[in-house]
Amino acid sequence: MRYKLLGKSGLRVSEVCLGTMMMSTESPSSAGPEESRRILEAFAEKGGNYFDTANEVYNDGLSERILGEFVASDRHRYVVTTKYTNTRLSLNRLYSGKDPRIRDHPNAGGNHKKSMVQSVEGSLKRLGVDYIDLLWIHFWEYSTDIADVMRNVNDLVQQGKVLHFGLCNTPAWVVARGQTVAEQRGWEPISALQYRYNLVSRDLELEVIPCARSLGISVNAYSPLAGGFLTGKYTRGDSTESRRYDGGRFEQAAFPFDEKSYEIARKVDEIADRLGTSSAAVALAWVRDRGVIPIVGARKVSQIENSLQYLEVTLPQEDMRVLNEMSAPALSWTYDMLHSENSLLRQLASGGMLDAIDNEHFPA
Ligand SMILES: NC(=O)c1ccc[n+]([C@@H]2O[C@H](COP(=O)([O-])OP(=O)(O)OC[C@H]3O[C@@H](n4cnc5c(N)ncnc54)[C@H](OP(=O)(O)O)[C@@H]3O)[C@@H](O)[C@H]2O)c1
Repeated sequence: MRYKLLGKSGLRVSEVCLGTMMMSTESPSSAGPEESRRILEAFAEKGGNYFDTANEVYNDGLSERILGEFVASDRHRYVVTTKYTNTRLSLNRLYSGKDPRIRDHPNAGGNHKKSMVQSVEGSLKRLGVDYIDLLWIHFWEYSTDIADVMRNVNDLVQQGKVLHFGLCNTPAWVVARGQTVAEQRGWEPISALQYRYNLVSRDLELEVIPCARSLGISVNAYSPLAGGFLTGKYTRGDSTESRRYDGGRFEQAAFPFDEKSYEIARKVDEIADRLGTSSAAVALAWVRDRGVIPIVGARKVSQIENSLQYLEVTLPQEDMRVLNEMSAPALSWTYDMLHSENSLLRQLASGGMLDAIDNEHFPA
């Protein structure tokens, strides 16, 4: 296991983060408390120290409780991150329509200070910790000014309840403004960003990744296996493994599971077979080699073991090139106009000296 520095914070996190969204009660689609503990142990045994959870929205807070019990024995070894924005409603109960609190109160969620404070208080209790290593906004909900959010989180940092800050699912322009305000005021900066990113979903590369690189923020990928789609079990006809997207749930996934995605998934299988590793390992190695930290999920210990084979994988350059090419996101003119290798526009902007200028800022 190697370790990465998170943003400019100096905090060392393992090169892969363990997502705990599926840690819940015993059910066919989640990991019960005992299996969750085994998954956490298997990850930590490999050197993993970086964990992702969220407030009550993950299984009524059970994910935080399970993680909290695990880290209690050696709290300072682990980097515990959790999220706010959805304060009191559980996603599962919301989807099932069974939550009597579905209409709670208007401040029961959101990115404003009251929501942030009440969520952090709850997370500290459920996790059983004195401080949260990194607090994430779960998503941008277009209600609270990012300057207020930055000041509010800075207050929690001053109080010692939170050490660092990150944003999930937030437009790049909000990230840029938040970071700029924090820098100018001497507030806690944004250290990390978290978005869906994998071989079948690369839209992040247009705005977010260049924004993060230029502002010194680490990028983290949730659903790096596209929720299990890139593990080979949808393409190799393996009927023994569980599947999140069985029973018509592909529609809910909001992934483009079209013929192009299947072609990419089959290419991942082919590379895995040749390298003698798992498909999951190839998919995760691709995310890592794009300079992004994968937040991997698992429903059972055999899955995390299978996925962590990626730690031993070196993807040959030619495989990386082929995967990059076949999964390249569609670009619009603004993002594409400079991209061709012989781009006339870049030549013009370089006084005809493009080949003589080293420009590490140009997006790869
Ligand atoms: N910030 C956000 O908005 C956000 C959103 C989503 C997730 N997250 C975070 O990101 C984490 C990971 O997200 P994710 O669960 O979508 O990620 P993922 O790693 O793409 O998918 C994990 C799922 O794939 C299947 N799987 C994993 N490894 C496997 C293997 N080796 N072989 C076969 N199947 C395997 C399992 O589901 P089945 O066995 O049921 O198929 C598992 O639950 C979450 O736990 C959460 O912490 C954050």
